[in-house]
Amino acid sequence: MCAQLLSTQPYKGTRDFYPDDMRLRNWFFGKIRTALEVAAFEEYNGPMLESLEMYIAKSGEEIANEQTYNFTDRGGRRLAVRPEMTPTVARLVAGKIGELNFPLKWFSIPNLYRYERPQRGRLREHWQVNVDIFGCDGYEADMEVISTAVMLLRQFNADESMFKVHINNRRFFNDVIATIAGTDAEGSKRVSKIVDKKNKVTRDAYEEEMQRLGIDADKIAKIDALYNMSVDEAVAICPDSQGSKELIELFSALRHAGLDKYCVFDFGIIRGLDYYTGTVFEVFDEAPENNRAMFGGGRYDNLVGLFVKNTNVSGVGFGFGDVTLENFLVTHDLIPDIYNEGTKVLVTRFDDVPYEKYISITNSLRDAGIVSSMYIGSKKFGKQIDYAVKGRYSHVIIMGASELETSNVKIKNLSTREEVTVSISSITDYFLK
Ligand code: HAM
Repeated sequence: MCAQLLSTQPYKGTRDFYPDDMRLRNWFFGKIRTALEVAAFEEYNGPMLESLEMYIAKSGEEIANEQTYNFTDRGGRRLAVRPEMTPTVARLVAGKIGELNFPLKWFSIPNLYRYERPQRGRLREHWQVNVDIFGCDGYEADMEVISTAVMLLRQFNADESMFKVHINNRRFFNDVIATIAGTDAEGSKRVSKIVDKKNKVTRDAYEEEMQRLGIDADKIAKIDALYNMSVDEAVAICPDSQGSKELIELFSALRHAGLDKYCVFDFGIIRGLDYYTGTVFEVFDEAPENNRAMFGGGRYDNLVGLFVKNTNVSGVGFGFGDVTLENFLVTHDLIPDIYNEGTKVLVTRFDDVPYEKYISITNSLRDAGIVSSMYIGSKKFGKQIDYAVKGRYSHVIIMGASELETSNVKIKNLSTREEVTVSISSITDYFLK
C-alpha cells in the first residue's frame, strides 16, 4: 500500500514566497527601509514568542482571546506567537529606559500571526512595518508619524486620489459621547466598541446595541451626524475637551505641511486595540475592492508603564502590512518591472574547453560585482540559452575551443540579440563600462 503523499500547500492563511514573490516583497520593503532610514528611524527587532499575558494585558479581547496562537511550553510558561509588535517594542523600551535617547524613532518589519478567517487583505501570517516614536507627548510626534505614513506611500508614486488617512482621537471620542449620551468612562468605551464594529454589522444590529446601552434614537442621530462632520464642526461640540485641542493642533500642523489633502477627520475610526489613548488613525485605499485598512495606528500613553513602575513614556506609531500594501500597489498599477533589472550574465560551457576556464571567467565577473553564474546543467547549447532566457539573464558568454585559441569570448545580449567579441581580459570592463 502506498503511503499518503504530504500536501504541498502551506498552512491555511500563510504563504510560500517563491523567488519571484520574494523579489516583490524585498523590493517594496527595501524602498520602505531606505525611506525610514533617511527619515532617521532606527531598526530594532525582538523574538517571535512572547509571554501571553502581555497581550491579555493590553492588546484587547479580540486579539488576545480569539486571534493569538498560544501554547504552554515544556516549562509550563504560557506563550504566544506575536500577533502584533507594539507590546514587544514597549517591553524593549521599558527594558532600557534609563539608557535610551528619547525621543526614540524606531521601526521594525516583523512577521505576525493572527488566527483570522483568511480573506482579501487579511491572512494568518503577514509582515508588518511598525513605525513608532517614544517619549514625545506633543502633537509633533503624531504629526511626524502621520507624515511618515504618507511619505511611505509617496515612495511608490501614490497620490491623494489613491489613499486617505482617516483620523480621530480617543479622548475626543469619549468626551463627545459623554456630552451626547451622558455616559461615564466605561459607557463611552462600550459605545466605542459598537462604533468600531459599525461597518461589520447591519444598521438594525448597530441601533439595537446602542439602545441596549440606553442611547435612544435622538442620541443615535446626533452620533450619526458626527460621521459626516469636518474636524472644525466636530470639535465645536466639545471645545474644552483635551481631545479637541489635540485634533485642532494636529489638523493645523497637517494643513501647514500641505498634508491635509491626504487626510480626513473620521469619527468612525476607533481602532480595535485597547491601548490607544489619543490620536488614532487608519489609512484606506480609495479602490473599493481593497476595503480593509492598510495602516492602523495611534497614540498610546500607558503601554511602557506595564513594565516599569512610576514611568510614563508615551508612544505613537502605526503598523502596515504587506498583504494590503501589495493589493494597493497592484490595483493602482504602481509596480515597475522589477524582474528584468540590470546585468546578469550566464557563462555557457562546451565540452572541449576545460572547466576551470569557465570558473575563472565567472570568478572575475563576481569579483567585479557583476551578477553572474556558470551554467551547471546539461551542456546542450540550446538548453543553456533557454535556461538563460527563462532565468532572466541579460547576457550570455560563449567560449568554445576556437574562441579560447584566440583568448576571446563572444558576449550576446539576450534582449537586443547583439553579439560582440571581446578578449578574455576585458570581459569585466565590457560590463562595467
Ligand atoms: P492593526 O490595525 O491590528 O494594528 O494592524 C495594522 C495593519 O497591519 C493593518 O492595517 C493591516 O495592514 C495589517 N494587518 C493586520 N492584521 C492583518 C492580517 N491578519 N492580515 C494581513 N494584514 C494585517 C496593530 O497591529 C498595531 N500594533 C499597530 C501599531 C504600531 N500601533 C502603534 N504602533
